[in-house]
Parts: sequence; C-alpha cells; structure tokens
Amino acid sequence: MDNRPQWGTRAGFVLAAVGSAVGLGNIWRFPYVAYENGGGAFFLPYLFAILTAGIPILILEFTIGHKFKGSAPLSFFRLNRKMEWLGWWQVAISFVIATYYAVIIAWAFSYTFFSFSKAWGEDTGGFLFGEYLHLADTPGQVGLPVLGVFGPLVLVWAITFFILFKGVKKGIEKANKIFIPTLCVIFLIIVIRAITLDGAAAGLNAFFEPNWDKIMDGKVWVAAYGHIFFSLSIGFAIMITYASYLPKKSDVTNNAFITGFANSGFELLAGIGVFAALGFMAAQAGVPVNEVATAGVGLAFAVFPQIINEMPFGEFFGALFFLSLVFAGLTSLISICEVFVAAVQDKFKISRNKAVLFGAGAASLISILYSTNGGLYFLDVVDYFVNQFGIALAGLIEVILIAWVFKQMNPLQAHANAISDMRAGAWWKICLGVVTPVVLGYMMFDLLRQNILQKFETESGNYEGYATSFILYPGVTIAVAVIVLGIVISFKKWSRETLEEKYSSGNDKGVGL
Ligand code: ALA
Repeated sequence: MDNRPQWGTRAGFVLAAVGSAVGLGNIWRFPYVAYENGGGAFFLPYLFAILTAGIPILILEFTIGHKFKGSAPLSFFRLNRKMEWLGWWQVAISFVIATYYAVIIAWAFSYTFFSFSKAWGEDTGGFLFGEYLHLADTPGQVGLPVLGVFGPLVLVWAITFFILFKGVKKGIEKANKIFIPTLCVIFLIIVIRAITLDGAAAGLNAFFEPNWDKIMDGKVWVAAYGHIFFSLSIGFAIMITYASYLPKKSDVTNNAFITGFANSGFELLAGIGVFAALGFMAAQAGVPVNEVATAGVGLAFAVFPQIINEMPFGEFFGALFFLSLVFAGLTSLISICEVFVAAVQDKFKISRNKAVLFGAGAASLISILYSTNGGLYFLDVVDYFVNQFGIALAGLIEVILIAWVFKQMNPLQAHANAISDMRAGAWWKICLGVVTPVVLGYMMFDLLRQNILQKFETESGNYEGYATSFILYPGVTIAVAVIVLGIVISFKKWSRETLEEKYSSGNDKGVGL
C-alpha cells in the first residue's frame, strides 16, 4: 500500500524545490562570493559549476527520490543497502543546518521591525553586536539566551511547526505557493529601487567587472562549486526527500533545469540589488565600493541598515528587504526540516506529527544555543565546517558511490529518461562520473591542506583567527559527529512493512529489496 503523501500539482513541486533552493544563501552569500572571486569573471566558474555539478546532481537527486520513494536514508538503502549511512549523514547535516538557519531568520524578523523606526541608529555595527546580539567578548562563552533573538526564534519555529504539521500538500506546497510569488514581487521592487539609486552604476561595475586573473586561481573554482551545493540545496538530502513525494508521471530532468535556472536567476538578481545598493552607499560616503562591500552577517545586518539610513523611504524598503530574507529563509528552513521529519518517519514508523515533534522539536531546542551571547561565534564556526566539509564532501561521496562503487548510473539514467521529455544523455554521466568527482576531489584536498596542514600551524591562521580549541570542539566535532551518527543509525533495521513496500514507479521490477 502506498500511503506516501504527494504534491498536488507540478507547479507545487517546482515552487517547493525553488523555495528550498532560494534562501539566505542567495541573498547574502552569493553577491559577496561572486565579488570576492573575480566579479564578472566568477560567472564562468559559476556557470560551469551549475552545468557540470549543480543541475546534473539535481537531476540525480530528483531521480533517486522519484524512483525509490523514500526519505534519503530509505532511498539510498533501496539503491544499495550499503549506502544507507550516507543518507543519515546527509540527514544529520540538514539537522545541524536547521539549528542555526532558524536563528538567522529570527534576526531578519527583528530587523524587519527595526526598519520601521531605524532602531539601529547611526552605529549599525555597534547596534548589531552590542545592543541586539549582546555578543560575548570571547568565542566559546555561552551565556544566556538573548531575549531579542529568542523571541523571534520562537516565532520562526512556531511558523515552521505549523506548516510541517499540515503536511506536504496542505502545508509545504501551500506555503510555497504563497511565499515564493510574494518573495519575487518584493524582491523585484527592492532591486528596481536599488538600481535607480545614485551611484548604483558604480556598484554594478564593481560586481560585474571581470578580473580575469582570478580565473586561473583554483580557489575561485572551489568557491563556485562550494556555493552551488548550499545554494541549490543539493548534497544534504532535501531534493531526494522532496522528489519522493512526486507522482508517477513527473518530468524530473525538466524540473531540475527549471529549479536550477530559477535559483541562479534569483541569485543574480540578488547580486544586482545588493551591489547597486552598495554603490549608492559608497557614493554617499565618497569612498570606493570595495570599502563598503563586506561578507555574510555584516552585509545584511550592519551594512544594509546603513544603506537604509541614507535611502529615501528607507523604512519601507528596509522592511521589504528583511521580509524577503524571512520569506526566502522560511521556505528553505521548512525543506531542511522535512529531510529529518521524513527520515525519522520512514525509519521508526511513527506518525508525521510525532516525527515533526521529535525532529523539529530537537532542532528548535538546540537552536536556542545560537540565541545566547556567544551564539554568533558558534554559528559562524558550525556554518563554515558544515558547509565546507559537510555538504560538498557528502555530495562528492554520493556521486563516487553511485557512479563508481555501485555503478548505478545506467539504471538511474534509464529511469530519468523514461519519465522526462529531455534526455539525460552521455553529458550527464560524464559530468557526474568524471568532472564533478575530479573538481570536488581537488576541492576537498585543497580545503584539508589549508585548514589542517597549513592553518593549524599558526594560531592566527585559523578560520577567522579563532583559537584552535574553539574550532576543534564545535566545528570539527560536529562535522565528524554527523558522519558517526549516520553510520550508527543505519544499523537499526527497517520495518518489514517498509522492506516489502512496492516503491518503484518506473519500468523496473520495483520490489523493496
Ligand atoms: N538553498 C538554501 C539557501 O540558499 C539552503 O539558503
């Protein structure tokens, strides 16, 4: 009996997949990654990464989810029982990401309200780290939850729980159908406003001007590949889970292209909007754009408030900007949580409500850590490690196991082509079997060399200059713990019912085992 939930419409699935892909990564990570890695010249490695890894892996994950109709651990188990642990590893990565992702959305919630009165005053950096986050002096201190963060965090989780409880069709699909179009409208308004500000052209020049020397730098290619995984929500089980709710007749290849290009389109738009606004700010301050461009937390929550201070009707556009972060973030957070909700439900045969309660419940409790005085430091280190070593490494192992160890490319290709209009041809197998493993393999080697061999030699060479002990404990411990956890959970046996379930909707036999 197949009682797995299903998306109501194709548009519903695509919107949910786009909703997952378009997230905080697009708005605050992409513009700076592009700028720092060669501006206009970054688009070459970026496009290369999308076409050789992003979309091919998206097709792969959609196909796996559709064919095996299970959460990531169950789908991988059905692909080859020796692959289940990888599914759990990816589930654990998602769990860790959910815990801090929710906190960033909570900040965006607060800042939406702060916008109305420009509550951050003139010293926006001082406000962010001092009055708002009450940041501890030293990394590693925990302190108490900060009320101004804890309050909106409760709200973020309340919304997430509500949508997850409602289920796939009535909850996730419906929420995305409302949030994503709204997000597009809001974002278009912001971008149009940004590009019509004084100085916008200088910002766009800084963003698009190609620095061709950078192209020869391996790091730029690594940055492009690293970004693609987080941005497209691939390598951490989301797209497998979402595709497991697809009905029998579903075009996976086309859907993957639509999702991939929608995500890049949004990202590009975000880059244009962010840099146009930075150009405006630089013009106001009479400095070059590179002096105002900054990364991550600082960009969204310290530099943007400054721009809002200077801008005509800043209150209004500020609120819209932070609201767009909330919407983009929520639709991604929901998809991240669905990963472990589905996995727990499949493995332990419990009701959806219980799985939401346990899974999202545990994530929400842990997320309180990041709302404390020392929260930002933890967030920073965990995000760095999970992203650098977690997602990309899990993605690399995924393609190596499927293409080389268990040699499953042919059956998966046959499945994808049987249900899709567009063929996944030889290019697909070459990208996944050769190009992606080579580039990602090099990337992992380079990262390990930088982080372990080189940087740990000098105290100040550590990531962000943090003390080695602080990086080792939360960072490396979590990165390693998620792998161990994956292996341990995969020892528990699947229920007889799950094993006997008929699952394949393709043209092959399709009996579970
Ligand atoms: N894909 C999501 C993002 O970009 C997780 O934030």
